[in-house]
Amino acid sequence: MERSGRGEMSVSTARRQLNDGSWMPLLGFGTWKSEPEMVGDAVSAAIDAGYRHIDGAYSYMNEAEVGAAVKKKISEGVVTREDLFIVSKLWCTFHAPEDVKPSVMETLHNLQLTYLNLYLIHFPVGFQKVPGELLPRHEGKVLVSEIDYVDTWKAMEALVDEGFVKSIGVSNFNISQLQRLLSKARIFPAVNQVELHPYLTQTELVEFCMSRNIALTAFSPLGSPGRSLVFLNESADPKDLLKDPVVKMIAEKHSKSPAQILLRFHIQRNIATIPKSISPERICKNTEVFDFELTEGDLHLLLGLNRNWRVCQMKIVQDHRFYPFTDS
Ligand SMILES: NC(=O)c1ccc[n+]([C@@H]2O[C@H](COP(=O)([O-])OP(=O)(O)OC[C@H]3O[C@@H](n4cnc5c(N)ncnc54)[C@H](OP(=O)(O)O)[C@@H]3O)[C@@H](O)[C@H]2O)c1
Repeated sequence: MERSGRGEMSVSTARRQLNDGSWMPLLGFGTWKSEPEMVGDAVSAAIDAGYRHIDGAYSYMNEAEVGAAVKKKISEGVVTREDLFIVSKLWCTFHAPEDVKPSVMETLHNLQLTYLNLYLIHFPVGFQKVPGELLPRHEGKVLVSEIDYVDTWKAMEALVDEGFVKSIGVSNFNISQLQRLLSKARIFPAVNQVELHPYLTQTELVEFCMSRNIALTAFSPLGSPGRSLVFLNESADPKDLLKDPVVKMIAEKHSKSPAQILLRFHIQRNIATIPKSISPERICKNTEVFDFELTEGDLHLLLGLNRNWRVCQMKIVQDHRFYPFTDS
């Protein structure tokens, strides 16, 4: 974690360097499940609160509203484009190499931007392209494709060459998929964005990424408590990380909230994290994680809570050869 300039670190200044030399702010702002009519105000509030890293995706169906809010904040002089670290993700229906550039162009058009700071392959499994469908199905089964993510990656590399994206990375990739990608890549993935929190610590994956200088971004850092259904209607044992007694005990000890402990858990380990909120109050409170430090003992206790409990399972494609959650 870089201590930039003089004074205390904050949501605007705490950042880490990526393997391509770019800098990624450690505390970002999530936009999944934020309704299009709510997300603009949320992004505006986040930028006002100091967030400089905005995490989005084509599949969140709200990029136009995110882009409008970003544009407004730039035109108001609150931030410049250069201050911001904007992330989007290539959806599974666009893994064919010839679909990669049109996809980023559509995202850039939606966001009203000329480049992204980071573009990620959202998930290693590709789906068939069916116009207007994010999740094409036939008789209940997802229509997967056999496109190899290594071929998709080559097209991602070309986006860097052409200047449409500064950095490229992946999301939801496991160790063997990263190893395979590293053995074939011309540009190494800068980031792997994965689900991480004390109930899913993925220590082997974290250590692997750190050893290969692949930065991590932790998604669903609060355990995605607002989800009405586990992603894609899968039933998971509902757990409330924010009510965990150990998390609450550590929060009380530091006079912080459980959410602030869960965010600090990543930032202190140089892992970026991207909590989502549409509440102006929580958007601000979630930034107050730079004025205290967890002890080694706290970190040990939090890591000890692991139970391999995953919010985003994508079990509907679990039979695919590239389904990532079968090993580490
Ligand atoms: N790459 C991927 O496959 C992937 C998958 C999932 C998520 N993501 C990214 O990661 C982001 C975060 O993950 P997530 O949205 O699943 O879950 P999350 O950030 O763990 O949790 C969001 C939920 O927590 C609530 N919340 C926020 N701050 C809170 C606080 N201080 N106290 C109590 N509740 C609080 C929010 O409600 P309110 O909005 O009402 O405040 C919302 O319901 C996503 O938005 C998305 O950008 C990426």
